[in-house]
Amino acid sequence: MTSTLDGLARDFFARHPELTLAALGARDNAAALDPSPFGVKVDYRAAERHPDLVERYRAANALAFPGELTLPGWVLSDLYLLPGAIGLLLCRASLLDVPTRKRLGLSPDDEAIAAAYLAAPTVVPRAFVGVSLLSLVPKIVAGAWVKALTLRMLGARRLRGVAQWANPSVRVHTRMGPIRVVSAVPGTHEFRAKSFVYESDLSDEARWTAAMARRASPTPAMKVRATDEAALAALLARAEAGERIYLVPPGLDASGHLLVHVDEARALADGAATAGVASAPRG
Ligand SMILES: CC(C)(COP(=O)(O)OP(=O)(O)OC[C@H]1O[C@@H](n2cnc3c(N)ncnc32)[C@H](O)[C@@H]1OP(=O)(O)O)[C@@H](O)C(=O)NCCC(=O)NCCS
Repeated sequence: MTSTLDGLARDFFARHPELTLAALGARDNAAALDPSPFGVKVDYRAAERHPDLVERYRAANALAFPGELTLPGWVLSDLYLLPGAIGLLLCRASLLDVPTRKRLGLSPDDEAIAAAYLAAPTVVPRAFVGVSLLSLVPKIVAGAWVKALTLRMLGARRLRGVAQWANPSVRVHTRMGPIRVVSAVPGTHEFRAKSFVYESDLSDEARWTAAMARRASPTPAMKVRATDEAALAALLARAEAGERIYLVPPGLDASGHLLVHVDEARALADGAATAGVASAPRG
């Protein structure tokens, strides 16, 4: 059984030789990135020299996030490409289903974006915020792999992100390990009412590997319907009050229930350790 993320990544690309790993960002950012996350070589494309790939990313993003979530061009330049790099799984467009390929205006031999992930750097060293995850090649775990490889390329140790309770992406996010429910979404996010802020601790490689391989995880203490607004509001209130509440892999089950685990032991230990301490640095 493969027991490292390098090994699992090797297996993934052996199963899918049609996929390659690339990154798209401002030219000067390349030097700050891990050029071979989990042993997989990144083909770095400087956005200044690859305007066609930038356009292709924007088109793929518009397919995945239509309507009010459409990515404005200036956000792509100022907040995606300039501060960091988008992780990409690339393929021939023939790998996409035909309607998707045609909506993107691609010929079968064109280079296409199979999956993409953007995590933004934050003011906390090695802590990132997941901003945009998309996959156009369902059923091969491409979303989880582009996310994992990008986070490693960025050197992320901690991740916060906004997820929708009932979105299958919860299953992708929990491939990085249990996700802690942090709070409601601050600000005016379009999907605020059905979303939450989560946190992944990426520092425990064994736990990440087990989650990526879908091996054993903590037994959920309870299941909460992902559309039960009252129950979810109660869960958020408890999380915001300091309880360590997690969604454990695979996060969301086939009947639409979230798999919830409350870490009572850690809550007690935290309470003892931080008694009298005003604040502790993150990361
Ligand atoms: C979310 C997204 C990235 C997942 O793409 P993907 O990785 O190719 O998805 P997969 O087909 O491998 O499925 C991922 C998981 O979700 C599950 N899943 C997929 N569709 C599902 C559905 N309709 N209902 C329940 N589970 C579903 C799969 O069984 C799989 O579970 P597993 O990890 O246990 O195998 C893709 O659907 C997408 O781009 N969605 C639109 C954009 C979006 O919502 N992004 C997330 C914002 S937080």
